[in-house]
Amino acid sequence: MTDTADVGALPARGMPAEDVLDEVRALRAADRPTHGGRLFAYVYDPGVAGLDALAQAAYAESAHVNGLDPTAFPSLLAMENALVGAAARLLGGGPGTGAPDVVGSVTSGGTESLLLAVKAARDARPDLTEPRIVAPASAHAAFAKAAHYLRVALDTVPVDPVTLRPDVAAVAAAIRPETVLVVASAPSYAHGVVDPVTEIAAVARAAGVRCHVDACFGGWALPWLRRLGAPVPPFDFAVPGVTSISVDLHKYAYAPKGVSVLLHRDPALRAPQFFAYADWPGYTMVNPVIASTRSGGPIAAAYATLRHLGEDGYLRLAAATRDAVAGLAGAVRATGGLRLMAEPETTVVCFTSDDPGLDLFVLVDELTARGWHTQPQLTYADLPASVHLTVTAAVAPRVAEFGPALAEAVAAARAAGPVVLPPELLALAGSLTPEALTSELVAGLADGLGLAGGAGVPDRMAVVNTLLDAAPARLRERLLAEFVGLLQRPAW
Ligand SMILES: Cc1ncc(COP(=O)(O)O)c(C=O)c1O
Repeated sequence: MTDTADVGALPARGMPAEDVLDEVRALRAADRPTHGGRLFAYVYDPGVAGLDALAQAAYAESAHVNGLDPTAFPSLLAMENALVGAAARLLGGGPGTGAPDVVGSVTSGGTESLLLAVKAARDARPDLTEPRIVAPASAHAAFAKAAHYLRVALDTVPVDPVTLRPDVAAVAAAIRPETVLVVASAPSYAHGVVDPVTEIAAVARAAGVRCHVDACFGGWALPWLRRLGAPVPPFDFAVPGVTSISVDLHKYAYAPKGVSVLLHRDPALRAPQFFAYADWPGYTMVNPVIASTRSGGPIAAAYATLRHLGEDGYLRLAAATRDAVAGLAGAVRATGGLRLMAEPETTVVCFTSDDPGLDLFVLVDELTARGWHTQPQLTYADLPASVHLTVTAAVAPRVAEFGPALAEAVAAARAAGPVVLPPELLALAGSLTPEALTSELVAGLADGLGLAGGAGVPDRMAVVNTLLDAAPARLRERLLAEFVGLLQRPAW
């Protein structure tokens, strides 16, 4: 036995706190930068001095509090109710509105909120043996996950390649007698486009079906942008027929990760979301959300964040974000060979290229090499591959540097030329069925692509992205699952 830390997470002898923290910091050094306005996915940074320290202190106060039993820890119940009230008020509900009875729950994130929206809709219709949901193809993948976990069929409605929105008549036509939920996004993650919520909610209502607005991404940004004068279309409880809304506080409310709010127009709509169980010898369990034991940390941190920033703070941050979006979109427009997928209307800038000499995946790598971390999106149906930028307030001071960096990266990508995969590999990607994918084949591929051997993910991903892009969706899923399986191996 040794007393070094080189034995997984559990050394034979405990280590001094400072050494442990040094280890964590050393590990963190390999991560993408969570602050500084150069990472356009995964993180939401307001760039507000002191906010991290406040959220961390609040988190620490409540980290060991358990949301399992709100009567044992009333502090948590009070903070949850305050978060739900704030979200409801921001999204057209609460006293004095057309949706005075809005109720909600705090969940661990957008995916959990969406899973619960689908569960509530499914369990409200126990008469149906084969429940279904209708969602635009641009809806977040978490709906597919919910459908899969909950054994609900998913009927997707294509989006128009120009507007990036579904046709409302097609949504109406997709609703069947077994449909329990219709979905709209405000906005969609991929392109930042707000669906025609009024029209979608109207067709759902006419069919007597629930309508969930997934405002996980934009629900805490759109109201402020609207107050600043942006032409934000109706998307919240002011729209008749909207029965539930999700909004993630760990996105544009700038809270640390682990907090989303799922709202329902009234308590009866929420009731089937809950799970209660008394038929065992232990405590009678009642869970409003999926988790049973829940740390109070994320809730307290979100509470502190909202209290500290306040409406004036969020308005200021939304103005900075809006200006950053305009600046980044201007940089894209000014760069030959690039085209915005849509005029930005929220907090996303998404662009593509029609120029065969400019490979977007190579461009993404060139931007990464210059310290700008964007998110490639693969070809989907009749939508081209694109580059996604989630824009937060911390980007504002960086905007002036982005244009020149983009121009430079585009020049470098042109000079490097598009990725050319060996024709036999391309043919394989296009023809291989997921079932035919053996672990040996995946290990060989991973090796060839530099993904194996515990070295983590290579700096340059264009080859991997090109290969994935050539594969149909089912094969992409399988390949990625296998790759991640290779990464997730115990460190002994
Ligand atoms: C529109 C939308 N819905 C749901 C989610 C899922 O949220 P989470 O990653 O917190 O589970 C996201 C995440 O980006 C999103 O953009």
